[in-house]
Amino acid sequence: MKPRRSILSVPGHMEKMHRKALPGVADVVMLDLEDSVPLDAKEAARDQVIRTLLAQTPGKRTIAVRINGIDSAMGYRDLLEVVTAAGERIETVVVPKINHPGDIHFVDRLLTGIELHKKRATPIGIEASIETAEGMEQVSAIARASRRIRTLIFGIADYSASVGARIVSISGHGENEETIYPGHRWNYALSRMVMAAKANGAMAIDAPYGNFKDVDGLKRSAGMACALGCDGKWAIHPDQIDTINQVFSPTEEEIQRAKMILDADADARSRGMGAVAVDGRMVDQATVNLARQLWEQAKQLNPGAWF
Ligand code: COA
Ligand code: MG
Repeated sequence: MKPRRSILSVPGHMEKMHRKALPGVADVVMLDLEDSVPLDAKEAARDQVIRTLLAQTPGKRTIAVRINGIDSAMGYRDLLEVVTAAGERIETVVVPKINHPGDIHFVDRLLTGIELHKKRATPIGIEASIETAEGMEQVSAIARASRRIRTLIFGIADYSASVGARIVSISGHGENEETIYPGHRWNYALSRMVMAAKANGAMAIDAPYGNFKDVDGLKRSAGMACALGCDGKWAIHPDQIDTINQVFSPTEEEIQRAKMILDADADARSRGMGAVAVDGRMVDQATVNLARQLWEQAKQLNPGAWF
């Protein structure tokens, strides 16, 4: 799968922001029809998103569209109208507030119908936003509800509201969390979602960090998500993208260490050994698997580099 370290959310009705986001360095640009669009601009946003998509060269940029919830008056129309008019320009549809595998089945079948109608050969992926207690409880069934599932996304603000967690910042997106809870307040929920994603070949994506002026807070939040197995994180502001890309990319030091482990493993195997010592630490097949994963990721992110 293509890297999804950073996903920039761009309000669907703000054409000026589309122009800024599309040439940028986010791995994915997500044109949003849901929470960043006021109710009276929903139709205009849908039309704008279609116009923006049609102006793109197909396949050049990884673009996702977030539709409104399928329990709203807008969601099904977003899906039908955007995918029918400009499905060739998008890779995935992000569906908010997925509570049940049936929600995924509904979107899957509609997409199948549109793809048949439009004779589209490659299926559009689904990114399922898990942002309610109900959705989190059924996250494994949701992750395996369709072959279209590409990612599970943690919707932190709605999830907090859904479980009645105390608000600790204006945006509700991850700021000041440590002040009321020791450690990482979302450790369990996020890990649960990561587990479901990885057991089903999908990526796990962390919620955005709301305070876009706080680079250290963003780094910490992204670092914790990365440590738990997330593949990327949403951004709400272009200034957040470089930090997120950096956190979710292997460092030069990590790449060198992986190379050392892989070389030591090859050497050990040629001598009929399993575990060996590298730089004073035990290296066995589990460590080698981690090193190989990191090596592959580095190669994918930087094809043609020295390795
Ligand atoms: N995508 C593309 N461009 C963006 C952007 C985004 N998400 N957020 C800000 N920009 C642009 C601004 O238009 C501005 O462009 P300019 O220099 O050409 O005028 C520039 O980046 C600097 O923006 P800034 O003035 O720092 O922020 P702002 O006050 O204009 O916007 C927010 C702040 C939070 C309203 C805005 O970042 C935003 O709408 N983010 C997305 C929210 C969202 O999608 N929420 C739903 C998902 S959780
Ligand atoms: Mg939400």
